[in-house]
Amino acid sequence: MAVKKLASALLVVVLAVTFSVNAQEQSAKTIKRVPVKSTSPASGKEMFANYCVTCHGTDGKGGGPAAAALKTTPPDLTVLARNNGGKYPALKISSTLRGESSLPAHGSKEMPIWGPLFRSVAGGHESEVQQRISNLSKYVESLQVK
Ligand code: HEC
Repeated sequence: MAVKKLASALLVVVLAVTFSVNAQEQSAKTIKRVPVKSTSPASGKEMFANYCVTCHGTDGKGGGPAAAALKTTPPDLTVLARNNGGKYPALKISSTLRGESSLPAHGSKEMPIWGPLFRSVAGGHESEVQQRISNLSKYVESLQVK
């Protein structure tokens, strides 16, 4: 299996929001795709801050700056355990992040599918992809309300 060398190719997928205000019109929100920044696979917090807060908000409750421009409201990530009988659904979250679960928004691509992105960031190293997904999931777990 050939390892694809992505060299300096930019990965275009994290979404950001630009607010453009013109003289007469109200502000227009558009979603812009920006290159995925490299982050430490060891820090769920750093990855969350770079990859997730635009939609899910710093507190994970869904109020990120891009949220208003989406058709699907990003869910509150702090109640995943509460909505699952008090148990954090770790497996479901990892497969959601990998893009293996069937979230309705996948059709519209509103929730980015992170597996392939992380695979690119990791230069094809599956162990790093796993580390990223596991640390992100643990970070989301740490946001759970009791
Ligand atoms: C472009 C906006 C956007 C970004 C960026 C984003 N998400 Fe999401 N996310 C969504 C939307 C919208 C949904 C809801 C999808 C649906 O229910 O159809 C969602 C759903 C989820 C879910 C499923 C929650 C559930 O109830 O099962 C998890 C977990 C999640 N996101 C985690 C993350 C993490 C972690 C990141 C960063 C790596 C991230 N998201 C980045 C928009 C985003």
